[in-house]
Amino acid sequence: MPSHPNSVTIIGTGSYAPSNVVTNDDMAKIVDTSDEWIRTRSGISARHFAAADETTSDMACAAAERAIEAAGIERNEIDLIIVATMTPDMPFPSTACLIQSKLGLPNVTTFDMQAACSGFVYALSVANSMLLSGNFNKALVIGAEKMSGILDFEDRTTCVLFGDGAGAAVLSAEQTTEKVGILGVLGGADGSNPSLLQQPAGGSAIPATTESIASRQHFLKMNGKEIFKAAVRVMGQASTDIIEQQSYDPEDLNLVIPHQANMRIIESLAKRLSIPMEKFHNNLDRYGNTSAASVPIALDEAYRAGRIQSGDLILLVAFGAGLTWGSTLIKWQ
Ligand code: ACO
Repeated sequence: MPSHPNSVTIIGTGSYAPSNVVTNDDMAKIVDTSDEWIRTRSGISARHFAAADETTSDMACAAAERAIEAAGIERNEIDLIIVATMTPDMPFPSTACLIQSKLGLPNVTTFDMQAACSGFVYALSVANSMLLSGNFNKALVIGAEKMSGILDFEDRTTCVLFGDGAGAAVLSAEQTTEKVGILGVLGGADGSNPSLLQQPAGGSAIPATTESIASRQHFLKMNGKEIFKAAVRVMGQASTDIIEQQSYDPEDLNLVIPHQANMRIIESLAKRLSIPMEKFHNNLDRYGNTSAASVPIALDEAYRAGRIQSGDLILLVAFGAGLTWGSTLIKWQ
């Protein structure tokens, strides 16, 4: 382990999506909707849904295996696992613990983080600090969600928007002559109106009862219009703030990987930053909104597609339930 690490770099990425692809036409067989409505309002054409017996930790492990292989390290070099999810296998133990066992990793520090769709960006921030402390050397950071398990397939305003999947990154603490990798992180939250986007039941406020199940309180509820307005505002602010914090200009960015929730939100971000859509990596059309998995899946896809080169300046930016938001600026190494 380097005694005084000054940089944290991403040395491998991986992702996984379940094999079951559900098109908008398939969704139109379940709820009163159409391919045309979903595509024009959100930009989504299809999403992946996990099998009934496929869990968040299963998907996370598949993504993690690919990230570890890409990093070219022995898995027992990992000494920290952070899993961002709002759809854990169960309330406890943590999904991170289940993953540690499934991957056959030795005794490591593992925990889950919950910041909804901002979860992966929040987790990168925490992993970055823990690695810079010198107490950890290699972190596995995962965003994984089985959204289909909390969707109300009688609510057309929400069920057409989300999908399942997982993305992972291996982070390494390094001693470098100039700072590379994660240059800076920002996070924010406004918890004053949690009902804008929530899963009301299943926690201490509304424990599971026959009534809570009958009234469909265990499913995701969203005020799409209000979330849309907030998303446009906070995605823009989180992006300009981190760029300014690190003394760059938007035109210095080589690639932006935004949370994949709605193409109109992403287009408004491009406009706010005055940079062309070609500088964004989007896969919303094929995945829908996979919450905490969306940024790491897109990051892995972009890397494997050759869109990320050493020295590139990359912005990750996300928002989610809470509300939460976060951004990370990376000088890829
Ligand atoms: N199919 C057909 N019609 C629909 C559907 C559907 N699936 N869903 C809603 N409609 C109807 C509505 O009932 C409404 O009809 P009405 O005018 O007769 O009442 C009409 O379409 C328009 O609905 P709006 O809500 O005004 O549609 P809007 O243009 O705002 O788009 C959307 C809705 C796509 C949900 C948008 O508001 C949005 O993307 N919001 C942000 C959501 C988001 O980003 N969520 C992720 C947060 S991240 C996390 O932490 C999980």
